[in-house]
Amino acid sequence: MELVQIQLYEKEVQKVNVSEVVVKRQSIRAFKPDPVPQDILKKILETALHAPSAGNSQPCEYAVVSGAKLVAVKAAVLTATSQMPKIDIPISMNYPEPWGSRYAIIMHGVQEKLGISREDKQKRADWNIWGMQLWGAPACIYIIIDKNFYNAGEVPNSLNIFDCGLVAQTIMLLATEQGLGTIPAIMPVLYPEILRQVLGLPANKLFVAGIPIGYPDWEHPANKFRSAREPLEKMVKFYL
Ligand SMILES: Cc1cc2nc3c(=O)[nH]c(=O)nc-3n(C[C@H](O)[C@H](O)[C@H](O)COP(=O)(O)O)c2cc1C
Repeated sequence: MELVQIQLYEKEVQKVNVSEVVVKRQSIRAFKPDPVPQDILKKILETALHAPSAGNSQPCEYAVVSGAKLVAVKAAVLTATSQMPKIDIPISMNYPEPWGSRYAIIMHGVQEKLGISREDKQKRADWNIWGMQLWGAPACIYIIIDKNFYNAGEVPNSLNIFDCGLVAQTIMLLATEQGLGTIPAIMPVLYPEILRQVLGLPANKLFVAGIPIGYPDWEHPANKFRSAREPLEKMVKFYL
């Protein structure tokens, strides 16, 4: 395997340090329609490929979709929203405490900013559909793994998913560095069969998550919401 040398594009990026970028990144739920230049998307992905993976197996593949193809994806997904979602990677939506409260806080927090009441089922449904429409993002990076690796053993290879998480955060930090907004999301991959159809991918390519990417609409109320974190003392124990 050839070692791929990347050109660091220092001149083009704002000078920010890693800690700043980590704190600055937030999930963006409203994008401007302005397209993201292909060379920026390419550089983000090229750099993100340096993320570590178990055994350097590099299980993640990426479909970077924009332009007419993304219009086709969004249109096809829209026709499916009345059907039950059938995602590739099984997940549980059971959120017992203390995890459930954290989830509720972000869900209601975003809706509060939008002025959507808990009783307004129609507006909540519309907002969900807007999520499936990638919150207006002009591009989406879909993270894919191959079923022939993920399901090669007796149990699914969870490390594949761990590796995808590492690369997803790397992509999002690099995007933040470029002044771009992102959101790691399940919403874009609720109908993977449709994605495979529109993108011409075979059944063994499994969609793990999508990262809608674009320039944030900072005026939009959804982007005024910032999620909180538990304090260090609660989450971290130091053993000496
Ligand atoms: C694997 C994963 C899936 C997610 N899926 C969604 C989603 O479908 N819809 C959504 O609004 N946010 C989604 N999020 C975003 C989280 O709600 C968000 O990361 C969390 O509330 C923390 O907020 P922050 O990203 O602004 O720091 C997802 C995040 C992760 C890591």
